[in-house]
Amino acid sequence: SRPIVIDCDPGVDDAIAILLALASPELDVRGITTVAGNVGVERTSRNALQIAELAGRPDIPVFAGCHRPLVVAPIGGQFHGESGLGPLMLPEPSRQIQPPHAVSFFIEILEDALARTRPITLCTLGPMTNIAVLLRVRPDLIPGIERILSMGGAYVEAGNRTMTSEFNILADPHAASIVFSSGIAITSLALDATHQAMATPERAAAVQQGLGGPVGAAVKTLLAHWDRNDPRRYGSRGGPMHDPLVIAALLRPELFETRKARVFVEHSSALCLGQTVADWYGKSGETPNVDIVTRVDADGFFALLGERLARYGLR
Ligand code: BDR
Ligand code: CA
Repeated sequence: SRPIVIDCDPGVDDAIAILLALASPELDVRGITTVAGNVGVERTSRNALQIAELAGRPDIPVFAGCHRPLVVAPIGGQFHGESGLGPLMLPEPSRQIQPPHAVSFFIEILEDALARTRPITLCTLGPMTNIAVLLRVRPDLIPGIERILSMGGAYVEAGNRTMTSEFNILADPHAASIVFSSGIAITSLALDATHQAMATPERAAAVQQGLGGPVGAAVKTLLAHWDRNDPRRYGSRGGPMHDPLVIAALLRPELFETRKARVFVEHSSALCLGQTVADWYGKSGETPNVDIVTRVDADGFFALLGERLARYGLR
């Protein structure tokens, strides 16, 4: 199975993404790293521990990462509530966060990956602060990264936090710029993709149908909370299933259409801070390294999500 690390800021949709990954034997989740984003890093770390335990995987190591963006002030998420998991209440985690820092964990695991010539796939579901710091500290480890699959940005689609910008990129635009300009192969799931995967009430009901036990109850609470109820913006009720699409793109790439481009991140304009700009027509002369997802088979994705989450059975 494919070795991955999930770098995230749970987060209602991050939580569903983690549950999807941990139900999927094709993926060997070597660790979960956390970052400040939707809520502070103490909360995102605690939430990651709780979700791993909900999934029956207290063995998955969780490492806390950066507590602030590189340069800008923290902006904090919306729609995830004070805890980061909306109204979901989970048992106290049995573990506490332990050292090393997430960036040190990345260094360890990538050194090992290089030694074994078995590169690691990174999934980023939040601001890219941890990855940017890693790239600044140890650029020699880049060959240990197979690919980064990232939720963030908005190309043709408008922003969700400002007119031009999506939350994960806006929350740390300098970090995103460092990662996108690194030349690493990236699959970019931006709002252009995630707004095609609306958890409409019908789809949410279909996903929940096969679920039972604590995971089923948790997913029900999370999906109910996630309904944006803004058909004017999204074309339907429900909320966009942003982060789980990253995991689905690993499991079922045939559900996604992509187009290659170089991507630039605006980090110095007040009006467009955090905008992701795709060089669709080679104007920059830079080598394209980003596979931008342009189309999603949403029904195929929701079928996959329902099938995988049902594997938790009654646990
Ligand atoms: C992204 O922002 C967060 O609120 C979500 O978890 C997702 O990663 C969507 O813009
Ligand atoms: Ca997230």
